[in-house]
Amino acid sequence: MNLRGLDKSRLPRHVAVIMDGNGRWARLKGKSRIEGHRRGKASVRAVVEISRKLGISYLSLYAFSTENWLRPKDEVHALMGLLEHYLTVEQPKMMRHGIRLLAIGDKDRLPAPVFHTLGNAVRTTRENKGMTVLLALSYSGRDDIVRMVQNIARKVREGVCAVEDIDEGMISAHMDTRSIPDPDLLIRTSGEMRISNFFLWQIPYTELYITPTLWPDFREREYVQALLEFQRRRRRFGRTDEQITQPFQSCDRGQRTQK
Ligand code: FPP
Repeated sequence: MNLRGLDKSRLPRHVAVIMDGNGRWARLKGKSRIEGHRRGKASVRAVVEISRKLGISYLSLYAFSTENWLRPKDEVHALMGLLEHYLTVEQPKMMRHGIRLLAIGDKDRLPAPVFHTLGNAVRTTRENKGMTVLLALSYSGRDDIVRMVQNIARKVREGVCAVEDIDEGMISAHMDTRSIPDPDLLIRTSGEMRISNFFLWQIPYTELYITPTLWPDFREREYVQALLEFQRRRRRFGRTDEQITQPFQSCDRGQRTQK
């Protein structure tokens, strides 16, 4: 791996990725959109592999949004097939490398074979301690917030907690991402300047990195570029430059000390 000056002691703990541009990549190459997604799957494998080698603890991938259900049926079907294939083929590798798989989103909407393969992969890798790969499937940030509000409202109704108990910590603890620190770096490929209903609550101080590279072309070189750019950022978490004593902090440490 060519790390080109990357400081391994200052890597993000959690990287989140909006993988975009499979369709445009396919169009540019005169191939089908499904071929674009197939190539995108290879980028997923590459980014998981590099993250693991570097020692990044959490990698979140926006693999299928709530809105993606509105795509043509054959494309949705192909994406589900790719996902199932990925989960099946990669599971032994995840076990070999100690990768834990988690999934967030409205999983009940997934076709039964994907639901079962996913459940099986999550269960099998549950005790792995190396790195966590978080797949956002049938996920949207607003949906996540709706689920959180419903869960807390239910607890208030049942008398488990009071309205006054609701604070940022409680909200975070009821999001799909409850056991995961906020992302330090959010990468979006294909140049679009938007969040597209991915993490909303989780990214108040996340560094954003948007590259014109299309997802199927996003491999080691582009990933290292993003990490280098992250290391050039000065994270202040709402404070002044002078107040920053430590040159590097990851998200939740910053939030805890910020007042
Ligand atoms: C966006 O490209 C990408 C997706 C909707 C899905 C991402 C899926 C993969 C990378 C393949 C399989 C995933 C896993 C986890 C194995 P787009 O179709 O929106 O591209 P466009 O904007 O250029 O049309």
